[in-house]
Parts: sequence; structure tokens; C-alpha cells
Amino acid sequence: MTITAAHTSEPILSVKNLSTSFFSDRGEVKAVRGVSFDVYPGEILGIVGESGSGKSITCMSVLRLLKANGRVLDGSAVFEGKDLTTLPSRQMRALRGNDISMIFQDPMTSLNPTLTVGEQIIETIRAHRQVSRADAAKRAIELFDLVKIPSPSKRLKSYPHEFSGGMRQRVMIAMALSCDPKLLVADEPTTALDVTIQRQVLQLLKELQSRLGMAVILITHDLGVIAEVTDRILVMYGGMVMETGRVADLFESPRHPYTQGLLKSIPDLSSGEHQRLSPIPGSPPDMLHPPAGCPFAPRCTHAMGICTEAVPQLYCAGDTPVLRAGQAARCWLHHADAPEVPEVNAREHEGAA
Ligand SMILES: Nc1ncnc2c1ncn2[C@@H]1O[C@H](COP(=O)(O)OP(=O)(O)OP(=O)(O)O)[C@@H](O)[C@H]1O
Ligand code: SF4
Ligand SMILES: [Mg+2]
Repeated sequence: MTITAAHTSEPILSVKNLSTSFFSDRGEVKAVRGVSFDVYPGEILGIVGESGSGKSITCMSVLRLLKANGRVLDGSAVFEGKDLTTLPSRQMRALRGNDISMIFQDPMTSLNPTLTVGEQIIETIRAHRQVSRADAAKRAIELFDLVKIPSPSKRLKSYPHEFSGGMRQRVMIAMALSCDPKLLVADEPTTALDVTIQRQVLQLLKELQSRLGMAVILITHDLGVIAEVTDRILVMYGGMVMETGRVADLFESPRHPYTQGLLKSIPDLSSGEHQRLSPIPGSPPDMLHPPAGCPFAPRCTHAMGICTEAVPQLYCAGDTPVLRAGQAARCWLHHADAPEVPEVNAREHEGAA
């Protein structure tokens, strides 16, 4: 299965058929099941989905940061010609923090409260670059300037708790950028922040991405947030990719009932009221015992007999006329013999797009 995207360059990261499980006393948690996607140089790929859908574990598998009970069972993740799933640990460590950087949700857990942020960023720079302390300090000031932290040389002397949440997240972004990564993985980088600060940090991330030309994977629960800053989206559910495509296509013409449900659940902030919020009824599957068929079947209003029996393939443009170039949806409704695919009412989510 090939998803034809409108890209002329080679992907910087190509993930194919990735499957990851955790093994516990209770059994095997099938967290990621056959996930494939590409990330192209200079683009922002958004990964969206409800809690437990496998967003973080997909990226943790690629970065080889799984907890001890987690194992990649199948698949590959090729970054610039090297399969990260089989790369020796030393080479992998060298790659992380050099070519690939990460930002996580809560900066307080990633920053050392007993050291100034300056000491921490200088240490990070010197861990990856053979530079003097003075040069690393100069670079730290440049980076603080880049992420728009006012009075950078003064703020380097502050401790993490002396920063607001938004500023702390900027410190984390500065650290992640300290070695000019080619790929930045940002896992829920703004969830802990209030909406206005969230927007500012995401806009900054977008600005930096286009200025520095790096590729970004941005993970979030929030389709509203993702619409503003990403180029393409991967919608995950039950450890699988349910739909993928360009942002505009998924917002105008979502072709998976789960994506349609997510879009309807975005609050319409533009109206000043939060009236259009209608969450998808039901809850995500237990990944210890995932359903045999489509993982969304128990919550899907379009479910048919086949849906509970077999997992549908990821249908692409070309398989059916309703999917656009670069768009793909894992749903039996795209099978040639299925009933007509229901249209989602675009007005229901236009305010959020
Ligand atoms: N160490 C672990 N042991 C067992 N199961 C785990 C472990 N870590 C994650 N899981 C399970 O793997 C599945 C995928 O988790 P993941 O963290 O990728 O979800 P997510 O989409 O990132 O959710 P969230 O939006 O809450 O961060 C979940 O069912 C989760 O419970
Ligand atoms: S495969 Fe069936 S249950 Fe799954 S989303 Fe499509 S219609 Fe719904
Ligand atoms: Mg997560």
C-alpha cells in the first residue's frame, strides 16, 4: 500500500508497519499495531487521537525510549537511510539530541530544579558539541533570543521555578534546538498551558520550524490546535492509523467516522460559546484485548457486520474517488461493495478549522 503524497523529496523518516507491545502480569498490551507514515524534510506532521491511541508509544518506539517491558515486535523506522529499530544503542544515543530532538509535555519533569536554566542548556550544548563554556554560553543566549525569551543573558541565571509555564516550555524548545536537529518530536508540548499561551508557543514552534527548515512531529489530543500549525495529520485510534492526509483535506472532507467524530468534538472558540462540543460517545478499546475487527466499531454509528470481524485496510486515493491525493482512511465504508460513504457536515466544524 502506497500513500501518494504531493512531495518531491525523499522522506527524512519513513516508518513502516511498526508494531509495539508491552508485556505485563496482565498480558500483552498491543499499543501500536502496524503503523506506517513518512515525515518529509521541512514539514510539520501532526499526530492526533484520544488518550491511549498509541501516539506517544509510536514515537517512543522510533526514538527507542520505551520502558523495559516494551518491545518493538515488527516494522522499521528509517531515518536518513538508517533503521532506528536495529541501530546499535550507542549510535542511537548519538543520534538523539543531535539529529533528532524531543520536547515533552511537562518541562518541570525534564528540567533540574537545583540548577539554573543557563547551566542546564550550556551542559546540553557541550554534551553534543566540542565547544568552550564561553562559546556554549554565547550559543545559549542566541537560542533564548530565538525562542523570544526577553533579556536572555539575565534569564539564563534563573532557576526553572522562576519561569512561567509558557516561558519554561520556551526553555525546553531552546534546549531541543541547541544542536540544530533535522527532526524535532514534540509530544503534547503545550497541554499544560492555558489556551492563549498554548497558541503563542505553537506559533513560535511553527515559525522556528520554517526558519530552521527542520521537520517536526507534533503530538496532541487537540485537532483544533493541530489545524493551525501542521501540514499533514495522522489520526490514530486503537494503536492504528485511522486516517491520514493534508490538514485542509481532513478538515474539509474527513473520510473516517472517527476523524468525523473528533472534528465534531472541537469546541467552536470563534463563536465565543462552546456550544458545538459533542464528544464521541463511548470509550477507547482496552489494548490488552483489542477488538478483532475495526477498533472503532463499538462506538461507530456506521458499523456493519464485517466491521466486528476483520480490520479494514487503509484505503487510499485511487481505491475510491472520495479520497484525495495523499489521503487514506482505514474503514470498510471505502470497500467497493460498501454502502455510500456518508458526508460529514462541514458546517459542524468550520469554526474550528
Ligand atoms: N509501560 C507500559 N506498560 C503497559 N502499557 C503501556 C505502557 N506505556 C503505555 N502503555 C499503553 O500503550 C497504549 C498507548 O499509549 P500511548 O502512551 O502511546 O497513548 P497516547 O496516544 O500517547 O495517549 P495520551 O494522549 O494519553 O498521551 C495505552 O493503552 C497505554 O496504556
Ligand atoms: S470500519 Fe466500520 S466500524 Fe470501523 S469506522 Fe468504518 S464503518 Fe465504522
Ligand atoms: Mg501520549
